[in-house]
Amino acid sequence: MQLKFPETFIWGTATAAHQVEGYNDNCDVWAEEHSEGSPYKDLSGAAVDHYNRFREDIALMADIGLKSYRFSVEWARIEPEPGVYSAEQLDHYREVVQTCLKYGLKPLVTMFHFTSPQWLMRDGGWSNPETADRFAKYCEVVFREIGEPLDYVLTFNEANLPVMLKELFTNMEFMPPVGMDAKSWIAPGWRESAARACGTTVDRYFTFHMASEAESIAIVMDAHRKARAAMKAIKPSIQIGMSLALPDVQAIEGGEELAAAAWQDYFGQFLPVIREDDFLGVQNYTTEIYGSQGVIPAGEEDEKTDMGYAYAPEALGAVVRKVHRDLKLPILITEHGIATEDDAKRLSFIREGLKGLHACIQEGIDVRAYAYWSTFDNFEWTFGYTPRFGIIAVDRETQARTVKNSGKWLGRVAQNSVLPL
Ligand code: NOJ
Repeated sequence: MQLKFPETFIWGTATAAHQVEGYNDNCDVWAEEHSEGSPYKDLSGAAVDHYNRFREDIALMADIGLKSYRFSVEWARIEPEPGVYSAEQLDHYREVVQTCLKYGLKPLVTMFHFTSPQWLMRDGGWSNPETADRFAKYCEVVFREIGEPLDYVLTFNEANLPVMLKELFTNMEFMPPVGMDAKSWIAPGWRESAARACGTTVDRYFTFHMASEAESIAIVMDAHRKARAAMKAIKPSIQIGMSLALPDVQAIEGGEELAAAAWQDYFGQFLPVIREDDFLGVQNYTTEIYGSQGVIPAGEEDEKTDMGYAYAPEALGAVVRKVHRDLKLPILITEHGIATEDDAKRLSFIREGLKGLHACIQEGIDVRAYAYWSTFDNFEWTFGYTPRFGIIAVDRETQARTVKNSGKWLGRVAQNSVLPL
């Protein structure tokens, strides 16, 4: 048995600058990693040295059979000081795009993947309304330099993540997040030191991760709209969207209202802005099941991923249907992935997820892309290098790359646009 996907379907994998490039030392997360009492389990350090190895890495992706590469450009590198744009860094990302094209991979570019320049924090970060204009200007500069050959651009990765994190921290008495030390994440001590490193004080230290209040959400949305307009003015045909982190929110009896409220927070509240976009990037990893007290954590007996949440490949198709109910826009799966040491489990996770996606396409939903998270085992933020999401393993000493079976398999799927069952 096999399932045929459209010939035009965009198959690939995804990364984010800070998680793979290495020595991204002008951004806020770097300051956080290095602050005293930091909740980050590892320092990002050299990461997987993708900044230097992107040529070989992209060649390897093409060699496996992949057809696209989603990556992010780093604001903290491109605009090292306010209003100063680095020609060298713009050249770097232009070469990344050109290398994708050379190897026949469609580049999907994300302008912002969680990390902000330290100077932006100094100026109030995501609580300062001026940040929206600064972001739009940055996007305009980048797009003018590297945008011409692109079809799709994402402004913000997981624009709703701050809301989700807030939910997680508020509910943590009920649902202690596994692996992540949420208590120390919200403890102000280490943030003071990170704020100091960025030249500000903790009360003015507003990173993207903390942008969960109404004013900050409005700033992010304003930044998105302005960036969209700036890029469209340069190339009207460019397809612009943002991505959202979307667990498949479900309810058991008594949890209906909480589930509906969570879906509204994660998705519904952004609809007025997203409806003006060209597409939505959907990022799904699991389900989130609500009872009368809030989220019900995965039980002892439930199968889990190494992130501690439920193993739920069926969530992908289910969430795409929920999105489609309220939004008639093309959907790109900009992330779907699993942290596991068991690569056979990864392969099944992808296969089952794709099965659900195929059914959605059969039902007439316009799903155009699937980007597996992630290309490499990489720096998983506060969790450090322990969780392994990659289809390519990286030796932490030598940086040697080894393609896993799941990667070879995904490459074949991409080559034929056919999913074997
Ligand atoms: C979502 C984020 O975009 C990415 O940065 C992160 O590594 C993955 N999910 C896995 O947790």
